[in-house]
Amino acid sequence: MPTIWTLIALLSVLSSTLADDNDTDLIDYKALFGDSPRRDLPFPDLVKYDNYPVEVHNVTTSDGYILSLFRIPLNNSCEPDESKVPHIFMHGLYLTADDCIIPGPGKAHCYIYADNCLDVWVPNNRGNRYSRNHVSLNPDKDPEFWDFTVDEMALYDLPAIIDYILDNTGKSQVSYVAHSQGVATLLMLCAKKPEYNAKIKVGFGLSTTAYLEHSRFLLIPFQGIAADLMKRSDNTNFEFVAHGSIVQKTGKLLCGLNPLQYPFCSVLVFAALGYNRFQITDETLRVVTGHTPGGTSYKDFLRWGQMRNNGFAEYDYGISGNLKKYGRFQPPLIDLSAITMKWYFISSYNDFVGDVRDIAKLMARLSNVTQCILADKTFGHLDFIYGKDIPNYITPKVLSVLKGEGFPCDGDCSST
Ligand SMILES: *[C@@H]1O[C@H](CO)[C@@H](O)[C@H](O)[C@H]1NC(C)=O
Ligand SMILES: *[C@@H]1O[C@H](CO)[C@@H](O)[C@H](O)[C@H]1NC(C)=O
Ligand SMILES: *[C@@H]1O[C@H](CO)[C@@H](O)[C@H](O)[C@H]1NC(C)=O
Repeated sequence: MPTIWTLIALLSVLSSTLADDNDTDLIDYKALFGDSPRRDLPFPDLVKYDNYPVEVHNVTTSDGYILSLFRIPLNNSCEPDESKVPHIFMHGLYLTADDCIIPGPGKAHCYIYADNCLDVWVPNNRGNRYSRNHVSLNPDKDPEFWDFTVDEMALYDLPAIIDYILDNTGKSQVSYVAHSQGVATLLMLCAKKPEYNAKIKVGFGLSTTAYLEHSRFLLIPFQGIAADLMKRSDNTNFEFVAHGSIVQKTGKLLCGLNPLQYPFCSVLVFAALGYNRFQITDETLRVVTGHTPGGTSYKDFLRWGQMRNNGFAEYDYGISGNLKKYGRFQPPLIDLSAITMKWYFISSYNDFVGDVRDIAKLMARLSNVTQCILADKTFGHLDFIYGKDIPNYITPKVLSVLKGEGFPCDGDCSST
């Protein structure tokens, strides 16, 4: 299994460096894949297909990126409730807004929040399939477009998104649910621009990733090595695991066509991301292959390799760059002392990315976190967004806190 993931990673690097791979297709994918709306429709069309209302907004960041921000607005039949604030779902690394609708009505995060009369907003970070736009740069022609990492998502994308939503709704706070990298971005934002603490009523971290020392997801050690090797390279500005690239098409070929592929796929996916063949159903897995990965920058892939090597630290410019920037050989840890907002973390012993030991290390540096480690010791990293027990394990905890009814934890609970 390790070799498979290394191969996929290498393939994706290759595919990113090759010319537009639509021109190099040897296979007529369109004919082969056939028609499967839930697998193939982009966010706004899929939400309509699933019979919910949807809005598309553009948010321009102060450094010129144009981000797609989706909204599932309140149903007319919802009672007005002043205590409710706009509710953000933020996706993780390599992924998109699609994550919160993939399992479908009654099962996916955003539909469950909408069913509970929350005003649901779903951002897309710069560079993913929905946010490949800029006021002056062309993502297909200008390498500078891809010169970003999670640091820029935290300092430019997220504040622009939060302020846009507050302006648009006239509210003074939002609530925030995030998967994986989406947790790290808000931690970084509140650490560096502490005025944002007051704009977040409450945050929920699903599979919090900041420290990655114990991560068993095999791509991550590979990222660590790549980050070391690429220190000597000055060309890391290109697109990575783009939607429609060879990685996504391969995934769709291997897992997205026929239910008979499911046993093979479940072994492949779950061996890498946490073994739990019962959480992601055959139906959901096929839908997943049409939506993931969603694309980011190669530089962000390397940035997470740095986190693996250095901890939850500032950007690593290499020894001479670090000396100039920080006055030391290694980048310092990110100063988290300004984070005061309330966090609830939902974690799992079987999470191969957000390992509970690494989350404990992060929590030791935070002052306002309550964590629940799920009682089900088989729940994995992607199960937080695609698992069939989301409506049993995850959304009830979020909804209970939002209703002021506490944080029910069926597993191991701890607080800072
Ligand atoms: C959002 O921006 C893109 C790129 O500039 C543009 O094509 C699209 O029409 C805009 N959509 C909306 C709803 O403003
Ligand atoms: C939203 O409205 C539609 C049509 O009025 C209704 O069928 C549906 O159950 C409503 N959903 C919620 C969450 O109220
Ligand atoms: C934790 O968050 C709550 C809710 O925002 C806030 O009232 C409280 O002051 C915070 N506590 C600390 C120690 O920052």
